[in-house]
Amino acid sequence: MKILAIETSCDETSCAVVENGRSVLSNVTATQIEEHKLYGGVVPEIASRRHCEGIVGVCEQALLQAANTTLESIDAIAVTYAPGLIGALLVGVNFAKGIALAHSKPLIPVHHIKAHIASNYIAHPELKPPFVALVVSGGHTSIVRVKNYIEFEVVGSTLDDAAGEAFDKAARAMGFSYPGGIYIDKQSKLGDAEAYKLPNPKTESPYDFSFSGLKTAIVNLIHNTKQAGNTLTQNQISDLCASFQNTACNILTDKTIRFAHEQANNGIFADSAPVICLCGGVAANSGLREKLLCACNEGGYKLYFPPLEYCGDNAAMVGCQAYYENLYGGYNSGENSNSLNAYATMGIS
Ligand code: KG4
Ligand code: ZN
Repeated sequence: MKILAIETSCDETSCAVVENGRSVLSNVTATQIEEHKLYGGVVPEIASRRHCEGIVGVCEQALLQAANTTLESIDAIAVTYAPGLIGALLVGVNFAKGIALAHSKPLIPVHHIKAHIASNYIAHPELKPPFVALVVSGGHTSIVRVKNYIEFEVVGSTLDDAAGEAFDKAARAMGFSYPGGIYIDKQSKLGDAEAYKLPNPKTESPYDFSFSGLKTAIVNLIHNTKQAGNTLTQNQISDLCASFQNTACNILTDKTIRFAHEQANNGIFADSAPVICLCGGVAANSGLREKLLCACNEGGYKLYFPPLEYCGDNAAMVGCQAYYENLYGGYNSGENSNSLNAYATMGIS
């Protein structure tokens, strides 16, 4: 089954052709980052306009790059319909509805976070649920119990900032441009992770997260240094990056492993090897990959994470999840093409 997938939930206009949920025939993404950089973050109105301008060309490219694929040979259209920036989502949803109606194709709505989780299926053909997923992106941070391909339970989430948001805001305070997560990652390789003692906030539920205190500690430290008439040296910035990354990644790793232990003790993985999947933009972070891998090796878990190109927002992951939504969720009627709407927020449980 060949699916044409569309993703416009934030600042990437992306279209992909995916076969049978695992094989990516094409994945074309037009990023808007350079423009949003000027404002230090995503400007929703600009994002919507750029999606409108770019989506036809990106979709044509995705079809062109998928060998022997025309719109006629596509079996279904898939689109991210929640959660995200509402104006941005609406562009993709309406574009997808238009194609589905005009070409009499079924339309499969896909939840953005479920798609991030499905990004792990692309490079790992042997991977199948159940598993524990750590979803870490610019807008979301959750530990998810993936029961099967279409049933999920969020067991913990951030109470304030998402991990990526904390990375970006801390990076901004340190003078890096948006999105700053990748700069912290690079710079931290030159620094001492023990140089600064940063807060690790306690949460009532052991699987919830709170990153705003950690972010504020960085912002205050830089503010106080400036107030005293000083500036941080390059070495101090590197130490701060390394300390921030180390603290954030320890929190993410510890809670995920703790939940995986609980699941393993409850026999949730049955007779299969216990599996943890990492996904979302922050899954690109080298420190997080390293720490989680190390903890998984110690705990006897198998760790999966997507190739870098599928960590950030992309339509290929939407096409993967759509295949399973269709297979097990019964979206293949085409009746919902007319009524599908977009939603800024939506749970996955
Ligand atoms: O999943 P994504 O592309 O968009 C959302 O759905 O939010 O995630 C974007 C986030 C940004 O906050 C970005 O700074 C972060 O992922 N990110 C990183 C790295 N690469 C991207 N954070 C830390 N280290 C990285 N290497
Ligand atoms: Zn995302």
